[in-house]
Amino acid sequence: MRMHKKSHLEERLAACAELLTVADLTDKNMLTAAEKKDYLRVEEIFGNTNPVRVEIGCGKGKFVCETAKNHPEINFIAVEKISNVLIEACERAKEEGLKNVYFLNCAAEVLLKYFNPSSVEMIYLNFSNPLPKEGYKKQRLTHPRFLEIYRSLLRSGGRIIQKTDDRDFYLFSLESYASSGFKIIDKREDLKNNPAKDDVETEHERLFKERGKNIYRIVTEV
Ligand SMILES: C[S@@+](CC[C@H](N)C(=O)[O-])C[C@H]1O[C@@H](n2cnc3c(N)ncnc32)[C@H](O)[C@@H]1O
Repeated sequence: MRMHKKSHLEERLAACAELLTVADLTDKNMLTAAEKKDYLRVEEIFGNTNPVRVEIGCGKGKFVCETAKNHPEINFIAVEKISNVLIEACERAKEEGLKNVYFLNCAAEVLLKYFNPSSVEMIYLNFSNPLPKEGYKKQRLTHPRFLEIYRSLLRSGGRIIQKTDDRDFYLFSLESYASSGFKIIDKREDLKNNPAKDDVETEHERLFKERGKNIYRIVTEV
């Protein structure tokens, strides 16, 4: 059944067209792709001027859909580079009739193509791949090169909330925020026993908790 559904990916994406933008993948060079602006018309998409929050690497969308349900006064844009995964998030939001969630199928590297500068109040990074090998350091979503992108998206006083199960990635991220001039507002090293208000569990978080892993959380501000 799953394979059958996945083999109809194009049809499924087309059925979710009203809540999804698929990146233009003709330009393989992320830097030049990001320069060709194609800003999302956020006010048209949502039909209001509510604040915008962005989740990067949303996976199957549990976090963004539940958070959006809890906050109808906020608009959420969930970004995911793998369309096979993103489609499940889109279908979930559609089924639940959520009007304040929209999806963007692109890589974090090209976000500046799609968002007006200073237009986002919060960015969520939930269980981004820790990529422990030194050679992949620059691909980590909290590497300073990504923080510069996030800084451009975020309005003054905007925040990033990050969760991870990986201690080394947590420590790397703290250092990265500090060296990029972000202010650490809150950090927790055991979210299970020290829960944060208004937090929603993600798919990966549930798995990691079941395996007895610690969950780390950082709130940082530009
Ligand atoms: C480990 S999963 C976590 C999924 C979800 N946030 C959760 O907590 O259950 C990381 C997700 O980030 C996506 N991802 C990784 N690098 C990305 C990038 N550069 N741009 C956009 N998405 C990315 C992956 O495709 C994957 O779905």
